[in-house]
Amino acid sequence: MGLLQPSRPWQRRVQISQDSGGYPTNMFFGRFYLAAAAVALSHIGNVDAFWRMNCGAVQVGRVDPIVNPGAVSAHAHLVVGGSNFGVNSTYSSLLNSQCSSCEVQSDKSAYWSPLLYYQHPNGSFEEVPHGGSVVYYLSRGPNQDNLTPFPKGFQMISGDKTLRSYNDTNLTWGNSTYPPRPIQDAVQYACLSEVLGPGTPGLMNTSYVNTCVNGLRAQIHFQSCWDGKNLYKSDNSHVAYLSDMDNGVCPPDHPYQFAHIFMEVNYAVSQVSNNTDGGQYVFSMGDATGYGFHADFQNGWDSSVLNQALKNCASTDSVDSSGVIQDCPILNQSDDVQYSFNCPERPAEISEPVHGMIAKLPGCITVTYGPEPATAADMECGAGIKQPTIVKTVDSVPLPTSTAAVGAYFGNKYNTYLGCGNDTYGSFMRTLNALTTTDTASMTVELCQSYCTKRGYRYSGLEAGTQCWCDVAVNPTALLNYSNVAYQCDHKCPGNFTEYCGGGQFMSVYNNTDPSFVPTTDLSNSVYQMTVTPAPYAKNYLGCASEGTNGRALNGTTYSSTNMTIESCAKFATVTNNYALYGLEYANQCWAGNALASGSQIIDNLTAPVIGVDCDMRCTGNFSEVCGGFGTLSVYNNTGYKAPAVQASVGKYLSKKCLTEGTSGRALQGTMTSNPSMTVDMCVKYCLGKSMHYAGLEYGTQCFCGNSVATSAGAKAIDCPMQDLMLCPGNYYQYCGGSNLLNLYYSSTL
Ligand SMILES: *[C@@H]1O[C@H](CO)[C@@H](O)[C@H](O)[C@H]1NC(C)=O
Ligand SMILES: *[C@@H]1O[C@H](CO)[C@@H](O)[C@H](O)[C@H]1NC(C)=O
Ligand SMILES: *[C@@H]1O[C@H](CO)[C@@H](O)[C@H](O)[C@H]1NC(C)=O
Ligand SMILES: *[C@@H]1O[C@H](CO)[C@@H](O)[C@H](O)[C@H]1NC(C)=O
Ligand SMILES: *[C@@H]1O[C@H](CO)[C@@H](O)[C@H](O)[C@H]1NC(C)=O
Ligand SMILES: *[C@@H]1O[C@H](CO)[C@@H](O)[C@H](O)[C@H]1NC(C)=O
Ligand SMILES: *[C@@H]1O[C@H](CO)[C@@H](O)[C@H](O)[C@H]1NC(C)=O
Ligand SMILES: *[C@@H]1O[C@H](CO)[C@@H](O)[C@H](O)[C@H]1NC(C)=O
Ligand SMILES: *[C@@H]1O[C@H](CO)[C@@H](O)[C@H](O)[C@H]1NC(C)=O
Ligand SMILES: *[C@@H]1O[C@H](CO)[C@@H](O)[C@H](O)[C@H]1NC(C)=O
Ligand SMILES: *[C@@H]1O[C@H](CO)[C@@H](O)[C@H](O)[C@H]1NC(C)=O
Ligand SMILES: *[C@@H]1O[C@H](CO)[C@@H](O)[C@H](O)[C@H]1NC(C)=O
Repeated sequence: MGLLQPSRPWQRRVQISQDSGGYPTNMFFGRFYLAAAAVALSHIGNVDAFWRMNCGAVQVGRVDPIVNPGAVSAHAHLVVGGSNFGVNSTYSSLLNSQCSSCEVQSDKSAYWSPLLYYQHPNGSFEEVPHGGSVVYYLSRGPNQDNLTPFPKGFQMISGDKTLRSYNDTNLTWGNSTYPPRPIQDAVQYACLSEVLGPGTPGLMNTSYVNTCVNGLRAQIHFQSCWDGKNLYKSDNSHVAYLSDMDNGVCPPDHPYQFAHIFMEVNYAVSQVSNNTDGGQYVFSMGDATGYGFHADFQNGWDSSVLNQALKNCASTDSVDSSGVIQDCPILNQSDDVQYSFNCPERPAEISEPVHGMIAKLPGCITVTYGPEPATAADMECGAGIKQPTIVKTVDSVPLPTSTAAVGAYFGNKYNTYLGCGNDTYGSFMRTLNALTTTDTASMTVELCQSYCTKRGYRYSGLEAGTQCWCDVAVNPTALLNYSNVAYQCDHKCPGNFTEYCGGGQFMSVYNNTDPSFVPTTDLSNSVYQMTVTPAPYAKNYLGCASEGTNGRALNGTTYSSTNMTIESCAKFATVTNNYALYGLEYANQCWAGNALASGSQIIDNLTAPVIGVDCDMRCTGNFSEVCGGFGTLSVYNNTGYKAPAVQASVGKYLSKKCLTEGTSGRALQGTMTSNPSMTVDMCVKYCLGKSMHYAGLEYGTQCFCGNSVATSAGAKAIDCPMQDLMLCPGNYYQYCGGSNLLNLYYSSTL
């Protein structure tokens, strides 16, 4: 049966929806979270009940209370479960855990497995971040309604850390009805990419692993059959695998059947800094093949809860076979969906570096490739290597004492707390969104503030516990609700549990008020689009307008700038030009016109804008302002607008309406001048100076004088055709003629 079949991707609620803010997957997220929990539900026509728990790390390091009680263990482990875990863990000490890093708080069991590293060609090892673990409790085989709860003090190990190749010699117990299978089938890998890759018994080659964009998943089956006598034997002979590993029957000498524990450990290989540099993946026990993967289990269940859960949620009578904790009432009672924040990784009990980039594997273990099993010599530090010390840790995570009051200083010097920004609106951008970094192990408020300050960003913000965001301005269309949503910024910082690092889709925002701070002018990293909710629109805002049907909404004149602000567009439209309306578009464009063109209409007036539809971009010259959107304009009214008019008189010169230009010579033949800042006054003054009775303005910039109108040339007096007149470049409230058209002025006296 299908152990080597690909597991079915899990469709149900997963933690990612809570932590990532629902942003598109092509954006960078710090939190790599349980992207695809899955279970090998390979039995046709056999409705097996089960439950599954998501888990985060609770301790990382060379701790192994089963194999090396009280001591530093040979290789480093990734532990999930009871927080009181340590070198001396026992059933009763686990029960005393403050919390579990797995969802179900009545299970304080510990589950541990090796750490995965990526070894760069220069020899150093980079920890592959933990992408979350999932522990399944499955009822399997014909005896599945008669499961035994784990006894107090029970522990076991599945897998063999020395193996470096696949060897199908050792088999599970079986007979002709229930045939056995190779014991090494207990371990398997799956590549989580767009398509779930096929399971493999060993680690795949590096380039294939690198394609596992949603993680490399190691999965292991535990033994489900017990001899009924021994809580633990160092050769693990107190337990045995089911005949078909994840199904079948127990051997006669191990007649007691437990729930079948199946564990998936997700390694976030896509977060390795440079995994295409020719390096390799290596497990912490020096295993470059993956065949040595193993896992340990130490029971820490509240036995009455386990008993009830087995009866009610893991038997063929169970109505529900979804696996979801919420569907199992007894487990749901202690379900904590915020498990990874409420029970974060504890300070290391072993004083040696295991996270990030390290020079040697913890314990200086040699990397081996098999096929023969690794020996003890491969697994130990050489003589003369200083052993790390065991630090007694207190299993108590202090609760955050400090959320700064809004406006108060917090963190690095000069930084003030602005509040908890609500990033749930829209699908793209956040309260701050120019630059981001993530640190799943040591993020603190101070670290984020330093990161942003160093790069010239005044504002820093923490989100989802581990993400840091920087910006030169607070996104004006993100809602910063200083009081109501404070409780949403409730995730402890992994680097300092007494501080808060935002929340799922909520950002704790800080402002660096250092008077000597010099902000960056390089905004190339910054994003103009943003989430929307009441924006700081300037005075006289009319709303967000759509473009016209056959052209621009405002078609008078336009300019664009990498330094666009509402103020500079206003100046351009009102002082430099004389238009009734102006609008900002696409972050950097300013448009002016006297009316919205046909088809253009106000689509919102800041009540309920929609991302990607309404005005949702920041101005290139001022990130605190909104400059329209894609195909939308933030439109303003020039309330001081005065429509241009034909100037009725200048001094003793009176308007004589308009004159068409002569067809065989100029209408005014005395003298002429032109000026790029022509006004009616300028022209009249010029003609008076030349002692001429007529002054005529043409084509905006030209001024003609004469003592008579040369009707012989074909010139003709007409009512001014307003649509053909041009504004005077020196005074937009006046007209200065048009093409072959003069604004005519006359004075009988000089
Ligand atoms: C497989 O394992 C058996 C039992 O440990 C051993 O005797 C045998 O040599 C192994 N085969 C190979 C090819 O390593
Ligand atoms: C097979 O089992 C024997 C006895 O437990 C053990 O010594 C040996 O290492 C195992 N071999 C493999 C390949 O698992
Ligand atoms: C195989 O083992 C099962 C469980 O012990 C038993 O019920 C069955 O009768 C056995 N089958 C044979 C053919 O021995
Ligand atoms: C990644 O590795 C390649 C190949 O060794 C190297 O050329 C490149 O500089 C590395 N990049 C980084 C960011 O370390
Ligand atoms: C573990 O137990 C031993 C024996 O009781 C004790 O000496 C040691 O301090 C304990 N270590 C820790 C880290 O609690
Ligand atoms: C956050 O914003 C969204 C969208 O505007 C809103 O539905 C939600 O109620 C807000 N949350 C809080 C806690 O204010
Ligand atoms: C943790 O945060 C608190 C509150 O900001 C601060 O007082 C303390 O110094 C920090 N601890 C460390 C180790 O940085
Ligand atoms: C941030 O601090 C600067 C400098 O003190 C100040 O000018 C600015 O108004 C502050 N920003 C906010 C949103 O309070
Ligand atoms: C941007 O505009 C502001 C004010 O309008 C001005 O002070 C600044 O020098 C301009 N910057 C650039 C790069 O043009
Ligand atoms: C320009 O806009 C005006 C309204 O101000 C409109 O009457 C005119 O048709 C528009 N011109 C074009 C070419 O769209
Ligand atoms: C905004 O638009 C809504 C819906 O069209 C309208 O009811 C409301 O009066 C407008 N408010 C303002 C200030 O224009
Ligand atoms: C613009 O403001 C002027 C002066 O207040 C007003 O008369 C005019 O109706 C406004 N235009 C629009 C489109 O609201």
